[in-house]
Amino acid sequence: MSVSISRNKKYFKLDTKNSTYMLGIADNRFLGHMYYGKRLYLDSDFDRLDYLLGEEREGYLPSKNSCGEGLENRDKITFEDTFPWEFSVPGYGDFGEHCLEAASGDGKEALEFIYEDFELLSEKPELPGLPATFRADGETLVIRLREVKLSLTVKLMYSVFEKEDAIAKSVTVYNDGEEEYTLSRVLTSCLEFPEGQYDLITLHGAWGREREPYRRSIGQGKQSISSIRGVSSHQENPFMAIVDRNATEETGSAYGISFVYSGNFLAQTEMNQFGGIRAVMGIHPYQFAWKLMPGESFTAPEVVHVFSSEGIGGMTRCFHDLYREHLIRSPYWNQRRPVLINNWEATYFNFDTEKLWQIAEKAAECGIEMLVMDDGWFGYREDDSTSLGDWSVNEKKLPGGLKRLVEGIKERGLKFGIWLEPEMVSPDSDLYREHSDWIIGQRGRSTSLGRNQYVLDFSRKEVRDEIYRRIAGVLKSADISYVKWDMNRSLTNVPEGEKYHRYVLGVYDLQNRLVTDFPDLLLENCSSGGGRYDAGMLYYSPQIWCSDDTDAIERLSIQRGTAMVYPLSTMGAHVSDCPNHGTKRTTPFETRGQVALAGTFGYELDVTQIAGEEQQAIHDQVECYYKYNDLIRSGDYYRLPSAAEGKTYDCYMVVSKDKTEALISFVRITTHLSRWNERIYCRGLDEKTVYLLEDRNTELTGSVLMNVGIDVMGAEDEYYGKLIHLVAKK
Ligand code: DGJ
Repeated sequence: MSVSISRNKKYFKLDTKNSTYMLGIADNRFLGHMYYGKRLYLDSDFDRLDYLLGEEREGYLPSKNSCGEGLENRDKITFEDTFPWEFSVPGYGDFGEHCLEAASGDGKEALEFIYEDFELLSEKPELPGLPATFRADGETLVIRLREVKLSLTVKLMYSVFEKEDAIAKSVTVYNDGEEEYTLSRVLTSCLEFPEGQYDLITLHGAWGREREPYRRSIGQGKQSISSIRGVSSHQENPFMAIVDRNATEETGSAYGISFVYSGNFLAQTEMNQFGGIRAVMGIHPYQFAWKLMPGESFTAPEVVHVFSSEGIGGMTRCFHDLYREHLIRSPYWNQRRPVLINNWEATYFNFDTEKLWQIAEKAAECGIEMLVMDDGWFGYREDDSTSLGDWSVNEKKLPGGLKRLVEGIKERGLKFGIWLEPEMVSPDSDLYREHSDWIIGQRGRSTSLGRNQYVLDFSRKEVRDEIYRRIAGVLKSADISYVKWDMNRSLTNVPEGEKYHRYVLGVYDLQNRLVTDFPDLLLENCSSGGGRYDAGMLYYSPQIWCSDDTDAIERLSIQRGTAMVYPLSTMGAHVSDCPNHGTKRTTPFETRGQVALAGTFGYELDVTQIAGEEQQAIHDQVECYYKYNDLIRSGDYYRLPSAAEGKTYDCYMVVSKDKTEALISFVRITTHLSRWNERIYCRGLDEKTVYLLEDRNTELTGSVLMNVGIDVMGAEDEYYGKLIHLVAKK
């Protein structure tokens, strides 16, 4: 049983393998958060946990602090102000951040939600129209709360993933009355932490510099990250970790909170007057005003909570396991992806059928398996100023259309993939000339352009239907195995109301149609690099382009930050040419290959123009990919001390689930003298197993590798790297 209920039916205990989440009812009415952390084994004490909800404190509950007859006369402010709310609402004395705000015809109201009942489900229900984790191995607890005056019911749903130490939570608000309401905020997650010393870890960045981890103390007041760009964003990622002040990669408590959503979000910690923390996460209330008509309901997207008492690394591995097996629906989630070559950095907009065939021919000789044609193949697009929305082939570049091009690619032994940006329209396009009212904007105002393009209003079905008709037509016109779905600007000029969220639902709807109608299609999401790298997108695509920064050295930290939450199997990573087009840095070809091995692996260069040795080296890299990808894709990921910890290198390792194989990746970032004491301490191995280190043909036990450590020979020079493969001796 993953959910147990106390004999007095007041307390609910949700157990994963190593964690416990508890909530309970105080005074028969108020739903409070009792505990979240290391697994609890309770006996008769289950019924005696009143103190967690303050029930034993004299004067604490309003019922014991009465200043008159009847509920309405009870002195409630102190109670409201100090109670650990599981779902916080405004108006009666909870002055912290709230989960819900609702207005009736009388305007915004003070809210009071009273516990109504609970239900236990053996299967986790889907969330209509939303991405969500699935196949929970534990039960789902449903708690219903009812508003005392308005006809609103809230359903909180908690699903237990025992093996992955995760609890997924969603919230649905129902209008069971005759009146219409407007919801101006519905946050999903609300965690209350007792007084303590905590740090907050979040992921920050910019275009080309995504997801750098940032750790700081949680102090007084509110600390938040958010996006109001309509996408989850390059700047802040919908994830936060709350960890013990002393937590390390391997020790201490780490709570990971991740939003399964791809639009505006708010994630916030708030220290209260007693030093406790409230952490909330959900759709950002900015411009959010959702009309709830009689009989309707609104479901807020899911938040996944993960707990590890084995530090930040333990938290990361829980997310990787959960997202690989319980979020990514694509059949490719556990398959080696084809080694691809993408022509973006090879040609940008300047290509034609002949050029792509030349690339394909050489790529096939090198062992590459798929050619992806990037931006610039449609309408009359020669740069980024035209034709988005006109999803028909530019016959000037590709005479004979896609059919001829793809047949030629296939004759050369490669599969074919294509780039699309379905959410956008160029002002200079036939689509815009026909339907200029299809863009997101506000009447009477000019609409901002971003990269010379407008955002199509995907909240409107007729817009989605037409775009889908066009892109499905493209996909049916030739043998296309892969789509890179790009999205290159933020949403602006979005009116208050339902637009932001309905837009995201529209994107989900279209991606869902795509993968349903083309079940073998390998879909990669992308948003100017990694501007929409979130758990929501992973429900539709097993991989996401990590960043437009393809410099191997920069990629080390981008990929390391990304892997804080998201599995290596999801990270789009390619070898590009040097000097790197963005940073102008030159790195060894081998190192570029090694860095790309951490992800889905491919090339982003003109293979016909690189040196013969590099073409030759592609064979070796593809071989490495074949040799290591099963391990990298499905193993346990360990961050080893690296540049962020003051080292002159980047290092991580992946250990197979059965601990019989491991791979260490080491890349020197800056070189220095006198490094005789430099040691790598392995992690995650079996102490007693003897491992063969293939690079030096030495055998060492797991305990030596983890406690004594090893040195890394052959990666002394700047930007040189080394892979060390460990295989357990039989
Ligand atoms: C942004 C993507 O991240 C790039 O990889 C490339 O596809 C360009 N868009 C094309 O416009």
